[in-house]
Amino acid sequence: MSSSLEFVTIFTLLVASYLLSVVHCGNFYDDVEIQWGGGHGKIFDNGKLLSLSLDKYSGSGFQSKSKYLFGRLDIQMKLVPGNSAGTVTTFYGPAMEPNHDEIDFEFLGNSSGNPYTLHTNVFAHGKGNKEMQFNLWFDPTQDFHTYSILWNPKNIIFLVDNVPIRVFKNHETLGVPFPKSQPMKLYSTLWNGEDWATQGGKVKTDWSKAPFIAYYRNFTVNACIWSPAEGQSSCPSSKNTWFRQELDVESYRKMRSLQKKYRTYNYCKDMMRFLGGTSRECTVREKDI
Ligand SMILES: *[C@@H]1O[C@H](CO)[C@@H](O)[C@H](O)[C@H]1NC(C)=O
Ligand SMILES: *[C@@H]1O[C@H](CO)[C@@H](O)[C@H](O)[C@H]1NC(C)=O
Repeated sequence: MSSSLEFVTIFTLLVASYLLSVVHCGNFYDDVEIQWGGGHGKIFDNGKLLSLSLDKYSGSGFQSKSKYLFGRLDIQMKLVPGNSAGTVTTFYGPAMEPNHDEIDFEFLGNSSGNPYTLHTNVFAHGKGNKEMQFNLWFDPTQDFHTYSILWNPKNIIFLVDNVPIRVFKNHETLGVPFPKSQPMKLYSTLWNGEDWATQGGKVKTDWSKAPFIAYYRNFTVNACIWSPAEGQSSCPSSKNTWFRQELDVESYRKMRSLQKKYRTYNYCKDMMRFLGGTSRECTVREKDI
């Protein structure tokens, strides 16, 4: 091999390894820890895959090692297949002290052949009751799909396979609290909610089908990472793409047509439940919520 060719080869290798270290595709060993459930939560395939399982004795859960204050968090999940009635799989960011803030994705299992319900909610300063529920336009148990939370000072956008399904805007000007000062860890759990989850609790878990297993891969974090020592968060230089992101007209249109087809519950429309009137953000033009 001539020395210039050797140089080119080495140079190419260096560039390749540099790119690999920049394109961070998420390693569960580095980014999360199994929080509970003993052997029911597992990381394998060199950190590329994680599974949570649920049986009669225990569910399981993991949490991110870092806390985030604003960010875009993506994860790919493949949910419990078959008869998943009673199972609840979650992906959410809570902060409890001193106020309860939370951004929620929950997947409520169903009896075989019936669709999962995707449940979303937002808590800010202890106030929740902002549920929206959806059917999915695919079978979430057949393949991995990407579920994302984009959280910045202007809004929280929930995305499925990169398509926005819901946006919760910052309506502090209307007196509606918005989570923006408490850093959150990201949690994910698989647990038993048979008392309420499936068809209002009518369909119970069939434990003869246990263990129920959900798989995770490619946890991708673009976020401002909280430093407890400094008491502040530091943001990556790439933050501008998501830190300012709001839905443009085209994305709104997409989201609206998706909501028309697949949204099964909207707290803003539940007059029976909120007899005193729905929350204030519900009174702004439909386009904006
Ligand atoms: C389960 O399927 C039934 C029938 O299609 C549906 O009414 C229900 O919303 C689905 N989801 C849950 C969590 O029960
Ligand atoms: C991992 O997730 C990121 C963010 O959603 C995405 O851009 C990337 O294509 C995914 N990688 C794989 C291998 O699926």
